[in-house]
Amino acid sequence: MTREEARTKIIFALDVNGLAEIDRYAGILAGKVGMFKVGKELFTCCGPEAVKTVQRHGGQVFLDLKYHDIPNTVAKAMLEAARLGVQLTNLHALGGAEMMETAATAVRKEFGDERPRLLAVTILTSSTAETLRGVGIEHPLQDMVVRLAKLAQEAGMDGVVASPLEIELIRAACGPDFLIVTPGVRPTFAAADDQKRIMTPAEAVGAGADYLVIGRPIAKASDPAAAADLIADEILGGRL
Ligand code: C5P
Repeated sequence: MTREEARTKIIFALDVNGLAEIDRYAGILAGKVGMFKVGKELFTCCGPEAVKTVQRHGGQVFLDLKYHDIPNTVAKAMLEAARLGVQLTNLHALGGAEMMETAATAVRKEFGDERPRLLAVTILTSSTAETLRGVGIEHPLQDMVVRLAKLAQEAGMDGVVASPLEIELIRAACGPDFLIVTPGVRPTFAAADDQKRIMTPAEAVGAGADYLVIGRPIAKASDPAAAADLIADEILGGRL
């Protein structure tokens, strides 16, 4: 793996709430990270302009809106995401096979190989066995994660978002071509912040992650571009 290939694995979480901040980070980091994650807070505040601001700097976008609705609505929302020209977008696998299949079919039909890659969230990492029991799911959490990842794959999704601790299970269940995007990654130079079950970039890539979502270790660094370089080096170091 080259340093440039290592960089493409880094998705910077744009956890900011204004266009000026997006513009600043995209200006500094476009060439340094592979993608920028635009989530619900930023999209609710700034709309498609958030995506376009990143794109004006040449940055690629993971639109993290985690759709969960009736199949027709989710398919149409994902088509709009594809029309915005984002590279990754996602939905909740708990919406079911028909919801995922309708969206995957619609996006593949209109965009073919040029489509954004479609990801499913299995079980949110903030959920515990107790959370699941509260909504009537009695199965063990890890069984649910693997079951939903397989359901997503069968429905035509390209991959999942998963905690570092789930990477190996999902890789074993879904094979080498299924994308795994993981947050909860902390480079050796950074604080854990509120992340509890963390892996280093080298560990996560070694376990089988394709992309790492990393926010504060880059955003809070005195030199965010240098922090991104260090993370790329850590990914490479783990592969030497
Ligand atoms: O700053 P930090 O690196 O912790 O940011 C991680 C990003 O990934 C945040 O945008 C957070 O919302 C997101 N995320 C996460 N854990 C999950 C799912 C998403 O940290 N299970």
